[in-house]
This record gives sequence, C-alpha cells and structure tokens, in this order.
Amino acid sequence: MAEVNIYDGAIDKGLEGVVACTTAISSIVGATLNFRGYTIEDLAKHSSFEEVSFLLWNSRLPNQKELADFSQALSSHMVLSPELLAVLKTLPTKDVHPMAWLRTAVSILSQFDKDANDMSEAANQRKALGLTAKMGSLVCAFAAFRAGKAPTAPVAGKSVAWNFMYMLNGKEPDPELVKVFDTCLVLHADHELNCSAFATRVTASSLSDLHSAIVSAIGALKGPLHGGANEQVMLMLKKIGNIENARQFVIDALASREKVMGIGHRVYKNGDPRALILRNMSQQLTKKIGEPHWYEMSTLIDDTMQKEKGLLPNVDFYSATVYYSLGIPIDLYTPIFATSRVAGWCVHAFEQYANNRIYRPRSKWQGKEGLTWVPVSQR
Ligand code: COA
Repeated sequence: MAEVNIYDGAIDKGLEGVVACTTAISSIVGATLNFRGYTIEDLAKHSSFEEVSFLLWNSRLPNQKELADFSQALSSHMVLSPELLAVLKTLPTKDVHPMAWLRTAVSILSQFDKDANDMSEAANQRKALGLTAKMGSLVCAFAAFRAGKAPTAPVAGKSVAWNFMYMLNGKEPDPELVKVFDTCLVLHADHELNCSAFATRVTASSLSDLHSAIVSAIGALKGPLHGGANEQVMLMLKKIGNIENARQFVIDALASREKVMGIGHRVYKNGDPRALILRNMSQQLTKKIGEPHWYEMSTLIDDTMQKEKGLLPNVDFYSATVYYSLGIPIDLYTPIFATSRVAGWCVHAFEQYANNRIYRPRSKWQGKEGLTWVPVSQR
C-alpha cells in the first residue's frame, strides 16, 4: 500500500481545529456550554455537584432516591484510611506545590485500591466514585499536613462542598458559602476536550488504568495555561496592588507580550459563559467581605483586555476572587479545580475505553539527517 505523505498539509500547532473524537459528555457551541444537553446556566442555578456528577456519569438527571443514594455513596467514600494517611504524611510539603503533592497522592491512592488494575465496568465505576469523593479530602489533608496538623475527617452524609470547607477550616461552614462553593464545583465539573480531559483520554487510550489517567490529568491541569491560571490571577491582582495600577499593568504586559492570566480562550471567542456567572459571584462576595477593590480591579483588567486585544475572561479569571472571598489559600485554587473536574475526567476515560483507538499522531521531522557515528575517543 502506498504511504500517504502526511507532511504536505499545514501543522495544527496545539491541535487547533483538530476534532479528535466524538463525545456525548459536554459540548461548546458558540458561547454555550452544555453538560449532557443541559446548559451550564441552568445547572449552576439549580444543581448540586452531586447531581451534576450523576448526570455526567449516567447521561441523565437522577430522581430523588437516586440522588440521595449517589450523594450517600460519594460521602461514604470521602474517608481516607489510616494506612493511606500514614503514607501521605511522609510526603514533603515544604516548598511543594499542592498540585504536585496531589498528583503523587492520587498515584499512591491507586496502591491502596484493590481494583487498581481491574478494568471491568463495575470496578471502574467504584474507582471513579472513590477518586471523585477523595480528591477534596486529599487537598484538605495536604493543607493539614502543611500546617503540622492531623487532617480533619469528613462528616458522613454531607456533600463534597460542605465537607471540603469543613475539612479545610476544621469547623462547620456557613451554608450560604457552601452553596457558593458548590456552584463553583458545578461550573468546573467538565469542559469538552480541554487539555486535561485530552490528557486523560490519551492515557486511557493505551488501555491504562483509571488512576493513571487521572494522574496524567492532574499534571496537565497544573500548568498556568490551563487550571493553574486561577492561582496566577490572584497572584497577579496582589502584585498589581491597587486599582490605579491595573490599566498600566495590562498595557505593559501586552507591550512585553506577556500573558494576562485568566484571559483568552482557545474555543470561546465571544466569552466564556462560566466567567459571566463567576463575575456576578465575585462582585457579591468581595463586597460581602468588605474588599470590593479586588472585583473592581478585575473588571478594569477585563475591560482593558477587551479594548486593547479583543480578549475576554475565562473561567479562571473571576473564580480567583471568589475563592479569595471564601478565605481559601491561593495555592489551593487549582486543587479545587481538580476536586470538581475529576468527575469529568472519569467519564472521559470511560467514553474513551468504550470506543477506543490509541492516540498516536505524527510529528514532522526538523532535526539533522545523515550523521555518521564516531567513537567517543574521537569526539
Ligand atoms: N494575555 C495576553 N495576550 C493573550 C492572552 C492573554 N491572556 N491570551 C491570548 N493572547 C494573545 C496571544 O499573545 C496571541 O497574540 P498574537 O496573535 O498577537 O500573537 C493571541 O492572543 C492568540 O493567543 P494564543 O496563546 O495563541 O491562543 P491559544 O488558543 O493557543 O491559547 C490560552 C489559549 C487560554 C492558553 C491563552 O489565551 C492564554 O494563555 N491565556 C492565559 C492563561 C489562562 O487564563 N489559561 C486558562 C485557560 S481556561
């Protein structure tokens, strides 16, 4: 068979414009984001993270009993065993980024899971439940270890959002703030074929196990061009310091071709619908804590970027000031993203397993050719 010359066409750097697979999990059409056919606006307004996770995994909304059973199952899987905690406690936390710690912790988690290498559907469902339930517990365990404290155990029967805030602060959270945090989890639960979902699917496409796919995803999410941007937004706002400096900061960044974090998107060119929801949340919450300047500074950056570059904020831009208002340490913003997105990653792995072909693109050779090896003594 004659070999096709694949090098004749243009290279799709960053795979822009490449449609790599079919999916029925979430879709972006224009400025609309849907999970299983429901708009993100509808879900953010009415659903909980538990309900959205059920929806993503089962392709339909649960009835009352199913939601109660699913929430109970997630809650019962949040506990980290004493054996696991003993190993996690030995991991360094000083000068270690929580996303690096989380990546290692999830890898260790697989070694405590008897189903780790069982690729049956039932085992994969159990593992997905465990991973989704435990991600937030792991993040809070990191925060406790770093502070030299014992991790707070989750409370049975409580939601992922409630338990995250409880385990992080060691006291019962304000129900209004739990609702805000839960909405953030809903907004982040999935997002079509983003970098970490693709990383999940690439690893799954070799028929590797679910934990390995999720470890790949955490590594991809960590980067500042993906989930790592929310942390960078807050650091940027702190660096700018006050509203008087904000416009000039943007002008200088653009002049030196630096990225303004939380702005721009590969797919949304007319705005990210999640950013609109988070913008309102940021306005209300920064006012509530008596620090509205963070929101005001953000809107000025947002306006300047639109005017100067035609670029709009993405999900990470206003989520930074939302998390700040909730009193969450800045370096935990991206781990929160993982706490939610793990629900999406799991179902991307399952969709990949169900209709698999290994990902194996090509690259165009640009290196040297025709070299002759010479013995080391002659080099
Ligand atoms: N700040 C300044 N300029 C930006 C920018 C930003 N945040 N985002 C994009 N641009 C500019 C690029 O410099 C480039 O300009 P040019 O055409 O004059 O060279 C143009 O817009 C296209 O950007 P590019 O990086 O090629 O787009 P992409 O589709 O490859 O990347 C992002 C998309 C999201 C990675 C990119 O917008 C970005 O880095 N944003 C900041 C990080 C971030 O918020 N990530 C979270 C994503 S949800």
